[in-house]
Amino acid sequence: MSLQEFYRLDGGGDTLVFAGHGAAPLALIYWGPALPGGVDLATIAFAGASGVAHGMLDAGEAFDFFPESGRGFTGRPALALHRSNGDFITQCALQDVEAPAGGLNVVLHDRRAQIEVTQRLRMHASGVLSVDAELKNTGTTPLELQRFAPCALPLRHDEIMRFTGRWAYEWRAERIQLGAGLIDSENRTGRTSHHAPPFLIVGTRGFGDAHGDVLGMHLGWSGDSETLVERLRDGRVQAQLAPLLSPGEVVLSPGQTWTSPTLYAARSDCGLNGLSDRFHPFVRQEVLGGRLAGRVRPVHFNSWEALYFAHDLSRLKQLAGMAAEIGVERFVLDDGWFAGRGSDRAGLGDWRVDPQKYPDGLAPLADHVHALGMQFGLWVEPECANLDSDLLRAHPDWILGDKARAQPLGRGQYVLDLARADVFEAIFAQIDAVLQSCAIDYLKWDFNRDLTHAPSTAQTRAAYRLIDRLRAAHPGLEIEACASGGARADFEMLKRSERIWVSDCNDPFDRQRQQRAFSIFFPPEVMGAHVGPRTSHTTGRITAMETRALTALFGHMGVEADLSKLTERERAVLKDAIALHKRLRARLHGGRIVRLEHDDPGLIAFACADEAGQTVSVAQIDTPLYPQPAPLRLHGLKADAVYKVTLLTPSPALIAQMKRVPEWIRGAPFTALGAALCHSGLPLPVLRPGDIALLSVEAT
Ligand code: GLA
Repeated sequence: MSLQEFYRLDGGGDTLVFAGHGAAPLALIYWGPALPGGVDLATIAFAGASGVAHGMLDAGEAFDFFPESGRGFTGRPALALHRSNGDFITQCALQDVEAPAGGLNVVLHDRRAQIEVTQRLRMHASGVLSVDAELKNTGTTPLELQRFAPCALPLRHDEIMRFTGRWAYEWRAERIQLGAGLIDSENRTGRTSHHAPPFLIVGTRGFGDAHGDVLGMHLGWSGDSETLVERLRDGRVQAQLAPLLSPGEVVLSPGQTWTSPTLYAARSDCGLNGLSDRFHPFVRQEVLGGRLAGRVRPVHFNSWEALYFAHDLSRLKQLAGMAAEIGVERFVLDDGWFAGRGSDRAGLGDWRVDPQKYPDGLAPLADHVHALGMQFGLWVEPECANLDSDLLRAHPDWILGDKARAQPLGRGQYVLDLARADVFEAIFAQIDAVLQSCAIDYLKWDFNRDLTHAPSTAQTRAAYRLIDRLRAAHPGLEIEACASGGARADFEMLKRSERIWVSDCNDPFDRQRQQRAFSIFFPPEVMGAHVGPRTSHTTGRITAMETRALTALFGHMGVEADLSKLTERERAVLKDAIALHKRLRARLHGGRIVRLEHDDPGLIAFACADEAGQTVSVAQIDTPLYPQPAPLRLHGLKADAVYKVTLLTPSPALIAQMKRVPEWIRGAPFTALGAALCHSGLPLPVLRPGDIALLSVEAT
């Protein structure tokens, strides 16, 4: 194909326009609402016509979709590499642009550096752009790759929202106003990470849930990564999300290629809710490939916070009975079931059932669970092993990393070198045998150690291959992605799993905030959310069953507590909440999430919406600022439709908060015009910290 001056990419109501400046890589000059079919793209190119200030290189910053130092880009380049003779300059030129349906394949080459780069861009129907890039060594000597971002995105704004956190408090949204220079989050943990996951939002100053021009970005990658926003010295702003490569990690021999993880990006001019309106359908249709469509997400019981390592068959059977009785649909046996696993110091790597705890294997428990009408799931952590295991006693050399050096332990364990074929086969055979030993419908796949002494790419790709092979061998098996709670929440992992464990924190006060941030990129049906014990094991906070249950209700709901310790009242509240979750499930797991803003920062509100109406959750997680909560303005209702509004959670405690109690707070429905609910707002009851009001707003 001969080269053109402009290329356009359309999808999801957006158009992207790229300009070719002679032989240079393409520059993204427009990403906005869809342009009419025959528009003259040259009329967009004026943006590239600004002058060059004194003090800069004569042609200005060479800032395009694949910026390189060698072409006069002085910011962080997308590409850094070298050969042993010291050559490191690259000056890629545009060689070819193919335009398959909905995409562009941009081929760049540098004959002198002897490289070829192919950027593959796809604009999906949901409005999400995906970009990955392949580098080929076309030379005759080895090529060491140091940095390879699939692309650089030009940004129009400079307010950053990034996501950070720690174990048991993932998904803390942090706002930063970009000044000069670079804001860079690096993840060197070999997992998607708790503290620097590759998600980024940049938008107009003060952007919010329902307003602002924002760009949301994510690198679909579970290994080391780098997420950066940089103010270039000429004042423009770029974002890059890239794998973080260790020295010597990628050395391409002649003819060899290396492909980057995929970058996903979407634009919205109506704030964070608009981003979710693009990412959620994209996840449902493309990342999950539609495989959850029409499939009910079964309510879970998980044994971890009920029993930890103290497995006992008769207690487990009793818990299974109690779980089935309150409406649980899948019983997941967490850590502690395999040989030698009395604590987290031993046993990992030996995927044989503990003969003391389970003398007849897992089948009696699995059969019991199935007979109660539930599915049976099992926890595994195939990528790691304890030194105190038969596996590492027999094969100490299977530990990933330099054998001559001591490595810091993480949770008493090491990572296995899965890129080695013998290790991979042995672990596959063990897990495969477990899956064949009885009817197992589900695996919770955990990964509890940071990588410290090895680059992450080969290991991460081997872990993907292991999951893919097990899934192929066991069609129908579902997988939950977990890594010390939420350290593996990313689209590449979600391609091979059905659920993400968001956090080991089941404290509903913290969970409300975490789930709100998680829900920007991920739809609720993949968001593992559990009702934990009365006293949270991570925060020590004691919370009411109502608070816990109404927080877990909005994700892929589950229970993770000793059911025999519930009071009768707690059990009834939980059972009712599970029943309500099931009644609302089609809307919760198939509708839109609309996060709602309120004057009180201690109040977290959102709605799950479909054609018929909305279910609104209002959680007070801090002491209210004012005696009377301001009305909550809803979004997305039909202005001229009349809605029936019902408080689903009236209670004597709620009524006791007010000396004059309108009838709707006692549960009597009222009707309101959509325009009034969106502009004047929905009245709210007086709430105490921990109170959650659910309201149903249904078109009449
Ligand atoms: C990790 C997970 C928990 C639980 C434990 C079991 O911490 O995040 O949910 O499975 O491991 O050891």
